[in-house]
Amino acid sequence: MKTGPKDTEYWQVDAGQPDNEIIKKAGQILRAGGLVAFPTETVYGLGANARDGAAAGKIFAAKGRPLDNPLIVHLAGPEGVTGVAANLPPVAQALMKAYWPGPLTLVLPAAGLLPPEVTAGLDTVAVRMPDHPVALALIKAAGLPVAAPSANISGRPSPTTAAHVLHDLGGRIDVILDGGPTSLGMESTVLDVTGEIPLILRPGSITPAQIKKIAGAVEIDTAVFAAGHGMHSDGMHASNKNDRPRAPGVKYKHYAPRASLVLVEGDPEAVGKRLRQMADKYIHKGLRTGILCADETKDAYPGGELVHWGRRGDIQSMAAGLYRALRILDSRGVDIILVEGMADQELGLAVMNRLRQAAGRIIVV
Ligand code: TXA
Ligand code: MG
Repeated sequence: MKTGPKDTEYWQVDAGQPDNEIIKKAGQILRAGGLVAFPTETVYGLGANARDGAAAGKIFAAKGRPLDNPLIVHLAGPEGVTGVAANLPPVAQALMKAYWPGPLTLVLPAAGLLPPEVTAGLDTVAVRMPDHPVALALIKAAGLPVAAPSANISGRPSPTTAAHVLHDLGGRIDVILDGGPTSLGMESTVLDVTGEIPLILRPGSITPAQIKKIAGAVEIDTAVFAAGHGMHSDGMHASNKNDRPRAPGVKYKHYAPRASLVLVEGDPEAVGKRLRQMADKYIHKGLRTGILCADETKDAYPGGELVHWGRRGDIQSMAAGLYRALRILDSRGVDIILVEGMADQELGLAVMNRLRQAAGRIIVV
């Protein structure tokens, strides 16, 4: 793998109509076993040839990712599934028809054709078809299934711009394709369809209601609601009433800010009141106090490092702005981060899941 910071190529591409020559070159680098970061509709991914264990292995080295956390295999079309999955349950077919291309990752029985670096040795494989012209063109140009986790250093917020990728992985990967900021800003939903009822392992941009509409029923893994804090004692969540395996990735603390993060959830008025009291106290103590709040409530706080990250009335804007907001506060070097929680429903489920994983303390008012 390349190590010098000057070795990462940075290529601008038109997100709507990617330049053929650039895509071809990037596809060749994937075929040759290299690492290419590329935009999807959710977050930037770090791609490698999914059929090449050594290439996929480089992803783990570049990100500092634990080896037992499997990768999502990205496909250019539904027909690619037959090359990686042993079979396609009818519910999976219906969900693919409804939401592909799009932010829905399906966990399927593996055909056993991919190296253990990709599946972490599990007998299942996670697949998705991204809804982004650059991602689709790149996968087609490579002519391969492309294994790709989010293109961040492990433990950092997922990248929603190419600049985030460069910041984290510059000098560690071969190419970054800059196709502008991603539109959704929240990762795909990881859905296990190997059992009787589809099970959400990681909430994401496709909501439980959207799944239920097609599948008739949906379950949510209990780990989705667990706090990140305290997850490290044995590396696993305490309990899970489902007997199916959860996404291995959820046992790791995903975003662990240097500052301690306090999530306050409950009735919005009470949340605001409590956050103001806490902010007052910390600012008085001389602590650099970060506040993450909605556009609508930004004038309600007494000062501090305030980042308003989306409209409360438009949950999609909050999902889209979350990772950028966390990176901004990190770069300001705050001591503590206070966050307004939101309703645990639909897209809010994904946002709250990420915040709970990052939180050192959760206060319910
Ligand atoms: O939107 C997205 O999904 C982005 C873009 C780049 O496509 N990718 C992404 O990948 O978020 P990553 O690696 O950051 O998260 C993948 C999640 C992890 O929680 C992992 O444990 C889970 O999917 N996963 C992968 N394969 C699995 C499997 N066979 N069974 C259960 N969970 C799996
Ligand atoms: Mg990730």
